[in-house]
Amino acid sequence: MARPHSTLLVVAGLAAASVSAQAAIPESLVPPQQTWSFDGPLGRFDQGSLQRGFMVYDRICSTCHGMKSLTYNDLRGIGMTQQAITDLAHSKMIAGPPDVTGQPTMRPGLPDDHFRSPFPSDAAAAAVMGGVAPPDQSRLAAIQPHGADWLYAFLTGYKMPPPAGAPMVPGKLYNDWVDGHLIGMPPPLMNGMIQYPDGTPATVEQQARDVTTFLVWASDPHRNERHRIGVSTVLYLLFLLGLAIAWKLKTWKRAKAQ
Ligand code: HEC
Repeated sequence: MARPHSTLLVVAGLAAASVSAQAAIPESLVPPQQTWSFDGPLGRFDQGSLQRGFMVYDRICSTCHGMKSLTYNDLRGIGMTQQAITDLAHSKMIAGPPDVTGQPTMRPGLPDDHFRSPFPSDAAAAAVMGGVAPPDQSRLAAIQPHGADWLYAFLTGYKMPPPAGAPMVPGKLYNDWVDGHLIGMPPPLMNGMIQYPDGTPATVEQQARDVTTFLVWASDPHRNERHRIGVSTVLYLLFLLGLAIAWKLKTWKRAKAQ
């Protein structure tokens, strides 16, 4: 008898935990809902947006934020060719083994290397960044309660100058979507700061949308594949169901005929 009770307790506990996780965000920080191609059980990442989003990450965000969970080879998942991946990895200088005199060395990256982190440690990053280290972006979209919607709102939510009456602290900027409205990250996006090879106009909103798509993909790189397998499995089960019904009808027809 203990078993159903403990299962119930676990379920109740999980429900309570998820409710309190949601409740932890003040109403004013719940971002407006956006439409994303990857939403829902049939959602798929838009490859064009993923590639543009990686460009934003690579050119802008990666100067301050690491993304340790991905290797350059993982970029095959956003449609990059092996040659482009090898060239990209090669263009990054990564810490190598110490030389014979014990001095640190650098070497060009290889496709199997994890994304290069911009700082050797969080402490080094914090020292340069006014006391707060930029968080690693591997799971950023997954750990935020409203992941994609919040990231988009946050990246487009800086106000300069801040609204009248807003708190002001030197070295901090005003953003509608962070607790306390102050953040140590300068606004990373500007209209036209990069040029997309596919000709999409690089507005702040477009860059925010693309880099958000890339960050959601990075925190769950196998979503497209999983959804594809899910759909084929359901189709296969429907096919089996059809066979079972046909078989049942046939058997009963024969039974009734006798
Ligand atoms: C100049 C360095 C710099 C660049 C470039 C930069 N960031 Fe940051 N970022 C930071 C720092 C520093 C923090 C921590 C700030 C704090 O907590 O006050 C941060 C924090 C964040 C946070 C967490 C905010 C929170 O409240 O949890 C997100 C999300 C983020 N950055 C996304 C991005 C994205 C996406 C890009 C690229 C478009 C980017 N950053 C580019 C320095 C940078």
